[in-house]
Amino acid sequence: MSDYQKQMMHHVGASGVMLCLSMAWELGVVEMLLEAKQPLTSQQVADKLNLRERYVREILGALTVGEVISVDDSSTKFHVPEDHKQTLATVSVFSRFMPQFGMRYNNVMDCTQQRNPGGMLYGESPWMYSILEDMLVTAKKDMIDTDILPAMPQIVPKLESGIKVAELGCATGFLVNKLASRFKKSAFLGVDVASKPLEEARADANGRGIQNITYSTDNIENISEKYNGSFDWILTRYVIHDLAYPQQALNQIYRCLKPGGIYSMIDVALEEGIIGNIANGTSMLYYSLSTFMCLPESFRQPDSAALGATWGAPLAREMVAKAGFTIINESASPTDEKEIHFVCQK
Ligand SMILES: C[S@@+](CC[C@H](N)C(=O)[O-])C[C@H]1O[C@@H](n2cnc3c(N)ncnc32)[C@H](O)[C@@H]1O
Repeated sequence: MSDYQKQMMHHVGASGVMLCLSMAWELGVVEMLLEAKQPLTSQQVADKLNLRERYVREILGALTVGEVISVDDSSTKFHVPEDHKQTLATVSVFSRFMPQFGMRYNNVMDCTQQRNPGGMLYGESPWMYSILEDMLVTAKKDMIDTDILPAMPQIVPKLESGIKVAELGCATGFLVNKLASRFKKSAFLGVDVASKPLEEARADANGRGIQNITYSTDNIENISEKYNGSFDWILTRYVIHDLAYPQQALNQIYRCLKPGGIYSMIDVALEEGIIGNIANGTSMLYYSLSTFMCLPESFRQPDSAALGATWGAPLAREMVAKAGFTIINESASPTDEKEIHFVCQK
């Protein structure tokens, strides 16, 4: 086999292994391996989870040949090395996108055709919002303290004494609910164009007795004039590149901030274009996520900007500047070097 043939077969095989990982995660196999104090046989895993041993053995085999987990010399006892556990817990969540890509495959194929409408919304895939939430819960659960507040320490005393904050495109409210429960003197607004995830956000806030938050189902490309100059801090995460009219949204965010107010744009921000991202695993994921999720989401309008997750840091900077902002800080996420927090001031 040539090196290229080996590389291609590796990619094809790795795609299948990631589907097996997703299934192992859903079935509880990953959790069991992560918690195990000693190596386990496929029979032990199957018995504990009421699964058919033959399937479990094949899944564990796929994960082992794919170097996701390890096996003993007899090829019968499986384990995860201690120093791999944290990474496996996080990456397993990303593997859950693979079956979603498969479920969306035919629809996205249709979207590529000029004769068809080009869009498909997240809500059309039943588990998409739950996966987005799982990603935050698993890989980003501390991001307020690791990614958000350290990039803008000046906001913390203001949050403590009471300011107005909005998260736009907040989905199931993971971030905005957490912020509201922590900074009780501040008033929070969670906005999303989709009402179903907002119902979950509301239920979570009610369940936890969070009272300083309201929600609104709105399109952030057309924010109501009643919010002109209203907010001290507006936050978006992974939203701007998904919009049909992102420049319009950035202009509206600028309009809704008070003078001197802060806009936190947290987004995928690749540098160096396609050429600078070749063979980078994170970039490979972002290009495929963009194809199956971000472009269809953006193409809700036929003349959409369709930026996709690969829109790139230079364009991001250009667009916030065009809206009137000054970028006062940029910081990469400690858990994902391609995720940048642009701290922008009005
Ligand atoms: C990739 S998700 C990100 C969700 C969440 N912020 C996170 O970090 O996981 C993008 C979110 O933006 C919302 N969205 C897309 N277009 C929108 C629009 N025009 N107005 C408001 N929300 C929008 C989607 O419904 C979705 O919840």
